[in-house]
Amino acid sequence: MTIFYSVKLNLWIFKQTERDIIKLYNSLTPYVRTAVNDSNDYMLNFGYWINNSDDAVNAQHELSAIFGKFAKFETVELIADVGSGFSAPAVQWRSEYPHLRILCVDINYMELSTARKMVIFSTPNSSPASFDRISLINASSTKLPFGKDKLDMIVAFESAQHFQSIANFLEVSKSILKPGGLIALAIPVVDLKPLVKGENQKIGIVKRLKLMKKLGILYFSWASQHYDIDTISRSIADHGYQIEEFQQIGHQVYEPLAEYYVRNRGNIRHRLIQSFASYKQRLYFEFVEYAVYRSALKMKDLSLNGMLDYVLIRAKKREPNVDS
Ligand SMILES: C[S@@+](CC[C@H](N)C(=O)[O-])C[C@H]1O[C@@H](n2cnc3c(N)ncnc32)[C@H](O)[C@@H]1O
Repeated sequence: MTIFYSVKLNLWIFKQTERDIIKLYNSLTPYVRTAVNDSNDYMLNFGYWINNSDDAVNAQHELSAIFGKFAKFETVELIADVGSGFSAPAVQWRSEYPHLRILCVDINYMELSTARKMVIFSTPNSSPASFDRISLINASSTKLPFGKDKLDMIVAFESAQHFQSIANFLEVSKSILKPGGLIALAIPVVDLKPLVKGENQKIGIVKRLKLMKKLGILYFSWASQHYDIDTISRSIADHGYQIEEFQQIGHQVYEPLAEYYVRNRGNIRHRLIQSFASYKQRLYFEFVEYAVYRSALKMKDLSLNGMLDYVLIRAKKREPNVDS
C-alpha cells in the first residue's frame, strides 16, 4: 500500500490536489538535495546552466539571479514570492537588492519551518535584521492573505506550474497589487503549437491524449499542470495585465540539466543509495531513479524539438481607464 501510494505521488497518473503537492515535496526534497549535493542551500529550481557546469547549486543560483534582473527588483520594494520553497531565492535576492522586503508564501509548512531557521541562522549574509525584511507565510497561491492594493510585485519563481489554476492566481494577485503593480513568472511550459496549430481553447480529451503521446513519461512523472505558452499569455491578458517582457530560456535549462544528470548519474546514484537502510527502499529508489533518468532525457529531447520551454514573463497590471 505504501509503495502504491508513493508511486501514485511520484508518477502523476491521477489528478493531484494541493495536499498531494505538499506530500510530494516532503517526500522528494531530501533526495533532490542529496542528488545536487546541497548541504546548506535548499534551492528547488531546475537551474540555468552555463558552459556545461557540473555545479547544480551554482546553476540554481544563476537562475535566481537572472530572474531577479529580469523582474527588475531594483524598481520595486514590497514583493510577495508565491511558492517560495525554502526561501533560498529570497535570501539571495535580499543580498543582491538590500532594499527589498519579501513576503515568502508557500503552501508547504515544513518548507517554511526549515526556511525560518535558514533565514535567521544559516545564511552568511543574514542576521535578525535581514529576517525583518523576509516574512514567511503559509498560504496557497489562490488565497493570498494580503489586503487590496498592497504590493508592488508578485513573483512565482518556478512554482506557477503547480497552481490550480494559474487563472485564479492571476485574479487574486490583481486585487492585491497596487495600481501599476507587476507580476513576474519563471515557469516551465509546454509549447502545443506544433501539436494543435492555431487553437487556443482549454485542452479537451483528444488534445490531452496527443499531449500524453508527445510528452511520454514526462506526462506522468512531472508534477505540473502542463500549461502551454498560449494559455498563459492569454490568461495574463484576460486578467487585466499587459505583458512587458517575455523570454524563452528553455535551451539553457533542460538540455544542460539532462547532460549534467547523464554525466553525474553514477555519483548521484551512489550518494543516494548510501542513504537507504532497507531493501524495500532501495527497490523503490531504482524504480523512481529510472523514471527520473528517462524524464531528464525526454526533457532534453522535447526542448530540442521546441515542445518544452522555460519562460520568464513580466507583466503590468493595467489601469482600468487604460482599457476603455
Ligand atoms: C519547484 S519549487 C520552487 C521553490 C523556490 N521558488 C525555489 O526556486 O527554490 C515549487 C514550490 O511551489 C510551492 N507550491 C506549489 N503549489 C503551491 C500553491 N498552490 N501555493 C503556494 N505554493 C505552492 C511548493 O510547495 C514548492 O515549494
